[in-house]
Amino acid sequence: MNIGILGLGTVGGGVVNVLSKNENEIFARTGEQINVTHGAVKSISEPRICADGNINITEDAFEIVNNPTIDVVLELIGGTTIAKELVIAAINNNKHVITANKALIATHGNELLTLAKEKNVHLLFEAAVAGGIPILKSLEQGLSANKIELVAGIINGTGNFILTEMRDKGRDFADVLKEAQDLGYAEADPTFDVEGIDAAHKLAILASIAFGCELQMDKVSTQGISQISGEDVAFATELNYSIKHLGIAKKVNGELQMRVHPTLIPKTQLLANVDGVMNAVLVKGNAVGPTLYYGAGAGDEATASAVIADLVDIIKETVSHDVLGWKALTEIPNCDPDNIDSVFYLRLLATDKPGALADITTTLAKHNISVESVIQKQIDAQNNAHIAIITNRVSTASLNTAITEIQSHEFIQEDVKIIHVENLD
Ligand code: HSE
Repeated sequence: MNIGILGLGTVGGGVVNVLSKNENEIFARTGEQINVTHGAVKSISEPRICADGNINITEDAFEIVNNPTIDVVLELIGGTTIAKELVIAAINNNKHVITANKALIATHGNELLTLAKEKNVHLLFEAAVAGGIPILKSLEQGLSANKIELVAGIINGTGNFILTEMRDKGRDFADVLKEAQDLGYAEADPTFDVEGIDAAHKLAILASIAFGCELQMDKVSTQGISQISGEDVAFATELNYSIKHLGIAKKVNGELQMRVHPTLIPKTQLLANVDGVMNAVLVKGNAVGPTLYYGAGAGDEATASAVIADLVDIIKETVSHDVLGWKALTEIPNCDPDNIDSVFYLRLLATDKPGALADITTTLAKHNISVESVIQKQIDAQNNAHIAIITNRVSTASLNTAITEIQSHEFIQEDVKIIHVENLD
C-alpha cells in the first residue's frame, strides 16, 4: 500500500517514525507492507523530525493527490482552505483520505463525507479528536450498543496545560501559553486553543458521532479560558474544585446541547485530576454507564498512533463508509445555550462596606438563587474585597437577570465573573 503524506511536520513526521519503529507489529496485524512513497512539505530545506531518505519530497501537494500510484493520502497540514481542496481532489481521484484536521472536519465534514461516500472511499479522522485517544473508534465500535447520554471532555491539551501550571505553580497565563507553543502543543493560531475554538471543533465531531447527527460546528456555544485569572484558580482550589476547560455534549428533551467553557469540577472527580497536556473524555452510555478515556491529546507519536490506526482500519476493511455511524445524516434541534440549568461560580470585586454581601445575596434570593458556599477576601488598600460564590442549580436566564441587577450596585467594581460548575458523577 502506497501512502502520500501532506505535511511532514509534527504529526506527519510522527507517522513516518511510528511506521518505521513499529513496522513488524503493524505488518503482523495487517499483512500489508505500508510504504510512505511521497511527502509534501512547505519547504524542502526545512528540518524534519523523521528520516525522509526513501520518500519523494515535493513542495507541490497536488502532485501527491493526483499521483495514480498512491492509495491513501494523509492530510496533515491543517487549515480549511488548501487542505480542503487537496482532500476533495484526493477523494475525486478515488483515494482514501485520513486527516488529523479537526477544523476541516468540523466545518466541512458533512460535504466531504458525502463526497467520500459517493466515491466509495474512506475519509477517516480519529486523530482529529483528543490526539492519541481512540475516542471515535470507542464511540463507533465499543459503545455501539448504547444510547449515548453525555460526552464531556478535556479536549484541548494546551488549555489544560495552561490551567494546570497556573494552579500548581502560580504561573502567568501568557508565560505558560508561550511554553505550550514552544513544546508544539498549540495550534498555529493559539487563540484557537485559548478561546475554545479547537475544543469546539472536536466537540462538534464527538457530538456528531455520539448522537448520530450532522456536524453542527456553528451550534457549539464557545467560551475560552483567557478570562480565567489567578484569583479564580486560587478560589476554585479553596472551594475544593479544579478549573478545567470542558467540552460538553448531551441531549436534553430531544435537543442537542453543545458547549465549551471553563468549568469548576469537584476535585474528587477523575476529570478534575487530568492535568498538563493530557486529555480525557467521559462518555455515559445508557447500558454501560460512565466510561472514561485518558491519554495524550497532542504530540507527534501520540497523534500518529491515531492516524495509523485509521490506516490499519482501511487495510483490514474494518470501517464502514457511514463513518458517523448512521445511514443518513440527520439534524437534531439545538437547545438555546442561554436557556440551560447549571450551578455557577460567581466572583465579584466589591467595596468592602457593611451590607454589600447582604445586598448581593438578597438580589440572588429575589431570583430564587441560593448560595451554597461563599468566600470573601479583603485584598487591597482601597478596601475592595474579592467574593466567590457557588450557587445552587439555576437557569442561565434567571442568573443573568440577577447578575445585571447586582452589577448595577455602586459597590461592584468590575464585571461579575461567571463560570459553570459541573458535577459529572
Ligand atoms: N492544539 C491542540 C491541543 C493540538 O492543544 O489540544 C491537538 O489537537
